[in-house]
Amino acid sequence: MAHLNTAIPTLACFLVIRLLLFGRGVQTTSDNTKNCKLFSESKTERKVLTLLEPLTGKNFSVDTQDGQDTYSYIFQVCGDAGGSKGAGVIQKKKDGGKESVVGRYTATQAIGGSDWVMLIYRNGSHYDSHCSAEQRKAIIMISCNRKVQMGDLSVVLEDREREHDCFYLFELDSSAVCPALSSQLSAGSIILIIGVCLLAVYLIGGFLYQRLVVGAKGMDQFPNYAFWLEVGNLTADGCDFVCRSRGNREQPPTYRGVATEPLEEEPEERDDHLLPM
Ligand SMILES: *[C@@H]1O[C@H](CO)[C@@H](O)[C@H](O)[C@H]1NC(C)=O
Repeated sequence: MAHLNTAIPTLACFLVIRLLLFGRGVQTTSDNTKNCKLFSESKTERKVLTLLEPLTGKNFSVDTQDGQDTYSYIFQVCGDAGGSKGAGVIQKKKDGGKESVVGRYTATQAIGGSDWVMLIYRNGSHYDSHCSAEQRKAIIMISCNRKVQMGDLSVVLEDREREHDCFYLFELDSSAVCPALSSQLSAGSIILIIGVCLLAVYLIGGFLYQRLVVGAKGMDQFPNYAFWLEVGNLTADGCDFVCRSRGNREQPPTYRGVATEPLEEEPEERDDHLLPM
């Protein structure tokens, strides 16, 4: 019984300590980024992709104006953007115009830096006339911003006035690509928190033990009540001895020998001695 009672606070204690020391636990269990097919399979790129897991399963969209036409772009991390099979980024002309695939997540490249990830989707639909009619390519620059879990997608530019290697460039802010924060607590505060935690375990466990196993009532429910009472008294005595500058202890020894009467009468006695002189 008592073991069970202390087990719960102890467990809570360890969880708190674990959280403090190692930060947030693993928070994503899905692996949607596996849907991305890398242009050329590599372990490092897979690792970069897993950072983007919190961003999966969402259509990011943005509208741009080009002359009289409005285009909307839809982007998804390793999923069908706007429901278009295999497409990571699509471009749609508003008012029901044609839809073209800007890049496919089946031809992904993922490059990661300290606080950014560059996602490249290749093998989009062919340009009509620009860019030697090659396949479109989308580059999505995802930058660290601790304030937003998923920011808004924005179009930076569409570079197609060239012979080769044209691309659409997008930007997105997200906390997902931020470097992991090292524990910001100093060793001192961690020790303090552990201390408080252990004290809580002692009090709660002891309290429950006294109450449920020993069957104590009232103040006796506190663990080792008599002992702590004694400690409190001794501390008070010690404090009294160290801190008090005047008191019984400091009276001249002559007085102590003479005075056998109760203490209250002493001031009067003193006056009596003084008067005749
Ligand atoms: C993305 O958009 C498409 C088309 O509007 C929709 O079918 C799909 O369910 C959306 N996906 C998510 C995850 O919202």
